[in-house]
Amino acid sequence: MGMLIVEGKHSLRGTVRINGAKNSALKLMAAALLGSGEFLIEDVPDITDVRTMASVLAGLGVKIKRCDNRLELNVSSLHGRVPEEPARSMRASVQVMGPLLARLGWVRVVMPGGCAIGTRPLDLHLSSLRKMGAEIEVNGKFITATAERLKGADISFRYPSVGATENIMMAATLAKGETIIRNAAREPEIIDIQSFLNKMGARIEGAGTSVIRINGVEGLASTSCRVIPDRIEAGTYLLAFLLTGGRGKLTNVIPAHLTALLDVLRSMGVAVEAGNDTVDIEAPKRINPFRILTGPYPGFPTDLQPQIAVVATQAEGSSMLVEAVFDQRFGYTAELKRMGAALEVNERALTVHGPSPLRGTELQAGDLRGGAALVLAALAAEGRSTVSGVHHVDRGYEKIEENLRQLGARIVRVAGEDKDAD
Ligand code: UD1
Repeated sequence: MGMLIVEGKHSLRGTVRINGAKNSALKLMAAALLGSGEFLIEDVPDITDVRTMASVLAGLGVKIKRCDNRLELNVSSLHGRVPEEPARSMRASVQVMGPLLARLGWVRVVMPGGCAIGTRPLDLHLSSLRKMGAEIEVNGKFITATAERLKGADISFRYPSVGATENIMMAATLAKGETIIRNAAREPEIIDIQSFLNKMGARIEGAGTSVIRINGVEGLASTSCRVIPDRIEAGTYLLAFLLTGGRGKLTNVIPAHLTALLDVLRSMGVAVEAGNDTVDIEAPKRINPFRILTGPYPGFPTDLQPQIAVVATQAEGSSMLVEAVFDQRFGYTAELKRMGAALEVNERALTVHGPSPLRGTELQAGDLRGGAALVLAALAAEGRSTVSGVHHVDRGYEKIEENLRQLGARIVRVAGEDKDAD
């Protein structure tokens, strides 16, 4: 963990390879609970959230081995009591609920934690499983669900929740009959999970559209796959090049997954060029102000809102960012203000008046993407910054300081008090 020390104002140049997507890898690991035998998942990022999910799975009886960026899972004997300690610290641990319930008929999981970015209810997960015949009890901090065999259901979400779409899609693979999910989330990670499950023998179609149909089968086998590239990590590095007046290339990306971001970058006057699996970027002399509204895919990703807000501090004019997914995702702005940013938060809207020079200072990360934004701000600031609370950033970025250093940033990690460690 420790702390990052950054000396700002060094332009980034060079090439960075993007890792497999955190938000896909975690769910593929959960999906493996539906089958039995040896699984191989390639391009799994070595980040804390993946380690936490690995501990959850190990606590359920799965044997796990990591070899470089490959994860081997041996799923043979399983039980449904999800270990409290690792599960508590990560929201995605709730994704084992659907698979375990479908596979074993019983599951007990602790109410999950995760980033402090707003209220994150589970009503869509729970009401849908109930509709599929599960009996669910929420008792204090535990959720217990039972169902002899789940049955297919016609489910309509009031909001296209990513986690609920995935949980129900996984649960429905072993249910009796057909499940339809309407107003499903359309994120690329959901298509990745559909492909994985179908390779295991599931019968799912429609991922990537708002209606997903799942025909239940009697059992699923093991398989192998490669995780899609992380579009949020990719976006974070693009913004790092931009903020430091740099020029660079991303490899191992799917540019189509970055369309919302690339459109905004072009409106700022940034030169970006998408290849087959690469994106090149060159920062302009002057950044135009911009507007974003976060939303479910293919909308602008909420997970890049904090990072792009830092760019707004350097744009020539006022930018407006509306956060429509989570209700408390502007916590990091207090730190930006201390660095000299001129901004106002008004409920779900953030207005940033640029350009203002940022000054290096002592910064405290409070959540994963907000933490990444502070690292970017430190790279763009005059002088030296320290970023504490790096364990938040480590949840989602593999070796962030090594990648940035190799691109020319002056950044080191020092052992020391991570004031906010939990
Ligand atoms: C996933 C991602 C996260 C990303 C988010 C939105 C993972 C591990 N995390 O989180 O990085 O920011 O998608 O793209 O994949 N909601 C309800 N009821 C529910 C479930 C969700 O009201 O039962 C609401 C949430 O409070 C939130 C919104 O739906 O306001 C979006 O949440 P959701 O799409 O479920 O996000 P996650 O799956 O938790």
